[in-house]
Amino acid sequence: MKQSAKKITAALLCMTMAAAFAGCGDYSEPAATTPDSTPTAESKNEEAPKEEAKDEAKTVGIAMPTKSLERWNRDGEYLKQQFEDAGYQVELKYSDNDTNQQNNDIQGMIADGVDLLLIVAIDGNALTQTLDDAKGANIPVIAYDRLIMNSDAVSYYVSFDNYTVGKLQGEFVRDQLKLDSEAGPFNIEFTAGDPADNNAGYFFNGAYDTLKEYIDSEKLVIPSGKKTFEQVATEGWSTDKALENMQNTLASYYSDGTVLDVALCSNDSTALGVAQAITSDYAGTNTPIVTGQDGDIANLRNIVDGIQTMTVYKNVSDEASVTLEVSKAILAGNTPDAGLLSSLSAEASYDTESYNNGVKNVPSYLLVPYVITKDSLQRLVDTGLYKWDSENKYLESTASTT
Ligand code: BGC
Repeated sequence: MKQSAKKITAALLCMTMAAAFAGCGDYSEPAATTPDSTPTAESKNEEAPKEEAKDEAKTVGIAMPTKSLERWNRDGEYLKQQFEDAGYQVELKYSDNDTNQQNNDIQGMIADGVDLLLIVAIDGNALTQTLDDAKGANIPVIAYDRLIMNSDAVSYYVSFDNYTVGKLQGEFVRDQLKLDSEAGPFNIEFTAGDPADNNAGYFFNGAYDTLKEYIDSEKLVIPSGKKTFEQVATEGWSTDKALENMQNTLASYYSDGTVLDVALCSNDSTALGVAQAITSDYAGTNTPIVTGQDGDIANLRNIVDGIQTMTVYKNVSDEASVTLEVSKAILAGNTPDAGLLSSLSAEASYDTESYNNGVKNVPSYLLVPYVITKDSLQRLVDTGLYKWDSENKYLESTASTT
């Protein structure tokens, strides 16, 4: 019952989000949404009764990193919709992956008097002063998806178990190559994320730690020798940089016919570039395993076409619903804890010990990621956020059309 009710809610939300989401496939950075262009709680009043009348005047400031990475479009619009449906006003800003701009955007929201800040940090280490100002103005802060470092102003962290994301990628490679029974050796190259993003190290470590015993025993070989996070990081999670790095690796270490068995990529934006490099620059005749994360539309296409092998999916609607509940509790003057999860259908845990941001242990709600392959794409459709195209071949976002 719970499950299907959730699906229906997700589908309805997606339908109502459709207009706002149109153009999601074009990743140019639009002007930030201003409060003026954000529909207000009042303007929606006639259409739907408020869930929380006492909070109707409250405003939530949402700071997203960039529209150039697909997932933040999904998260931003989805969160905005959820908060508005619950009767809050929303100020949503995208900061073009520019740390200074994000600081300015958040300062703007503080000046506007928002009641709560939800932040996906571009650089987890670069918001300390701004968050001091938020604290001075008594504005609670939720770190959404990425932990914000070096600040005692962060009240809560809502994310996925990010180490497990990498672990799932590593386990997938282990199982596909049958590393416990096959003799090998197999060749692998790693591509990791943005060093400024606190999540990126967790993803890389989860994958590397899982495969380390095979690397140590030389059943898995890294022909480029690039085995540290720093050596394989991709600034800004940029597809173009991942493409360029992989082209360089292929030119330097694979032009002699060396076989590439695995390109372990931390997420879909980097996997997109790596897959492109393999398609254009790899001379071998085998199809390397390519991992990813997020369920971006272009990558799901590549999965259908056999150019990418898997993605680790993190359900945006679950992350948003936990965030909404945490926010509601804070705005109502309560202190959210593990009890909050009992009313939610999302699979998640409450952890007050694992995520230290350099200043404090930040109480964390951690959701559970899972693997998607060509054979399990229907599971994405079941979230309500995706649908099959007219040929029943590729997936589309339910929010990007109609
Ligand atoms: C998110 C990933 C995403 C990456 C780039 C990370 O912080 O957790 O889902 O792929 O940022 O946008």
